[in-house]
Amino acid sequence: MSTERARAAPSRRIDVALGERTCPILIGPGLLRRPHEWCDALRGRHVLLVTDSHVAPLYADAACAALAGRDARTFVLPAGEPNKTLAECARAFEALADMKASRDACVVALGGGVVGDLAGFVAATWMRGVNFVQLPTTLLAMVDSSVGGKTAVNLAQGKNLVGAFHQPRLVVADTDTLATLPERELRAGLAEVVKYGALGDAAFLDWIDAHAPALLSRHPDTLSQAIEACCRHKAAIVARDERETGDRALLNLGHTFGHAIEAATGYSTLLHGEAVAIGMVLAARLSARLGLAGNAPAARLADLLARLGLPVALPAGLDPRTLVGYMRLDKKNASGRLRLILWRDAGQAMIVDDVGEGDVMAMLSAPA
Ligand SMILES: NC(=O)c1ccc[n+]([C@@H]2O[C@H](COP(=O)([O-])OP(=O)(O)OC[C@H]3O[C@@H](n4cnc5c(N)ncnc54)[C@H](O)[C@@H]3O)[C@@H](O)[C@H]2O)c1
Repeated sequence: MSTERARAAPSRRIDVALGERTCPILIGPGLLRRPHEWCDALRGRHVLLVTDSHVAPLYADAACAALAGRDARTFVLPAGEPNKTLAECARAFEALADMKASRDACVVALGGGVVGDLAGFVAATWMRGVNFVQLPTTLLAMVDSSVGGKTAVNLAQGKNLVGAFHQPRLVVADTDTLATLPERELRAGLAEVVKYGALGDAAFLDWIDAHAPALLSRHPDTLSQAIEACCRHKAAIVARDERETGDRALLNLGHTFGHAIEAATGYSTLLHGEAVAIGMVLAARLSARLGLAGNAPAARLADLLARLGLPVALPAGLDPRTLVGYMRLDKKNASGRLRLILWRDAGQAMIVDDVGEGDVMAMLSAPA
């Protein structure tokens, strides 16, 4: 990346309002190399930079340079979802203890959603909560996981079962980091981009449709526009409902099916965004089966996701009963009833309580 380009490109800024606090989100190329634009928001002498084994060799030096002058240490997690565990949190707590980090410490996450979720949980619980900053490096983390303050780790029994709400002080999305993201990971992030259009903004879904080739070819400004639009959507929803007592659940469109698919396939076959892509199509088909929506929007959504290189059908051999079993564990369920995010049409998602397992089984068993 040339300094020239970094200097020339403007960054975008969005503020997530949470009561009296605001969390600035900066989006743009070259931000990691321009720490003077954001590092004033870093508080505390001790900084633990949490990253993973893929991201560390690419961007840890730049992040460490931005943290110059503080007592900073780097904690490197083995990359991948199987490492979003309490055992890795324990290693991070030990790193904080070794550096004698006090309550004014700051945890900085440099990486994708796995790093962000785990580092956020460490920040939420070290000395009952210290400052947290997100430096997302995947598209999925830039459009979704770094914004909104949900943190968590997995147990063998299910995903994200142990966690806390803990808002970052700042999110800095340096879009230059997307240049090294593997193709499949980029596409998985695009599934979450589609989610925002599908749940609440039909015009944005049309925009994604029209810009699919530019998004796939990583056209920098198109990606920045998409990230900004997603962050604005998420910021608006989180500002209304930080703790997910209402509307925030809409952000889970496709996720109840998606999490069940991930669990049933051992978190190893599909990426999170890929499972969400299939999940959104299943939610749209179930909406049609229940008479809430027509068939055409589901077909159009599947077509768009397929054009973005995402899977839209269940992996072969997955037993619908196994999936429904995992869906019963979903955190949105109340009193043992399935609560799902379905839609009336593109851009019109809604929360539906008490969905019959028989309808879900029948939809899962029907040919697509
Ligand atoms: N907290 C939330 O609100 C929220 C929302 C959505 C998803 N999530 C969580 O996010 C996680 C998925 O996040 P993800 O898709 O970012 O996965 P990830 O963190 O595993 O990153 C994907 C892969 O890309 C690598 N990588 C990251 N940045 C890179 C870069 N710039 N160049 C090259 N390689 C890079 C990583 O090392 C990893 O191998 C899941 O655990 C999911 O539950 C959380």
